Amino acid sequence: MQERLQKIISAAGVASRRKAEAMILNGLVSVNGRTVTELGSKADVERDHIRVAGRLLRPLSSRLTILLHKPIGYVSTLSDPQGRPTVASLLRESGIKERVYPVGRLDYNSSGLMLMTNDGELANTLMSRDTRAPRTYHVKLDGRPCEEDLKKLESGIALDGRKTAPAKIRILGERGEGQKLWCEITLIEGRYHQVRRMFERIGTPVVKLKRVRIAFLTDQGLAPGAWRALTPGETERLKGSKRENRNGKKSLLPRRGKP
Ligand code: URA
Repeated sequence: MQERLQKIISAAGVASRRKAEAMILNGLVSVNGRTVTELGSKADVERDHIRVAGRLLRPLSSRLTILLHKPIGYVSTLSDPQGRPTVASLLRESGIKERVYPVGRLDYNSSGLMLMTNDGELANTLMSRDTRAPRTYHVKLDGRPCEEDLKKLESGIALDGRKTAPAKIRILGERGEGQKLWCEITLIEGRYHQVRRMFERIGTPVVKLKRVRIAFLTDQGLAPGAWRALTPGETERLKGSKRENRNGKKSLLPRRGKP
């Protein structure tokens, strides 16, 4: 389908519509080898070779997003200077040839859901501050926090000199060997080791951490090490979360006790 170049470029997540226009005017965009500097120019992302600052835009049909259940003991990056197994090596071993990039991080010692994609638009949307796609974690704690401390974490504490965004916490109960307490926490931001540092702050360190949900995507049916490709509908829904949140249409966090 023929579309205006600036629309194609912004939909690919390379730049905003206005920046894309500036790139066209500055001669940074070419279609099938020919530089295009007119703003009304159209192209077809599926058929034409569109380059922006030398980079080839990926047609929609080859965009891939994977929901992976990262096991403990894998680094959530493409490579590791210490030579530890990575999420990229895990996907390669399970037959994925396409190069997909992690969206955000999950600790080496944590397990749970991660998104890996070659879709720049989706990665930009999910990493953007105003998307605030909720991430839900189940954590096993060393100790039992009091209600007051949990409320403090929910309303926000200072981490690195900046208050954390509102969170939701639910007690799941005591489980397993040693009958340790498990809690569920939902955050709408992702700072470095945020969950671990929050519980550390109230004196109940996290001994196990598992990410069980990203926005509406859950770990149901995905064992550690397993993955599945997102459907086009799921990808579009994730991309829509930025617009929805900006328009105030969606409550970002589940209501207390109703995740
Ligand atoms: N919070 C953490 O502490 N670790 C993670 O991996 C993710 C969130």
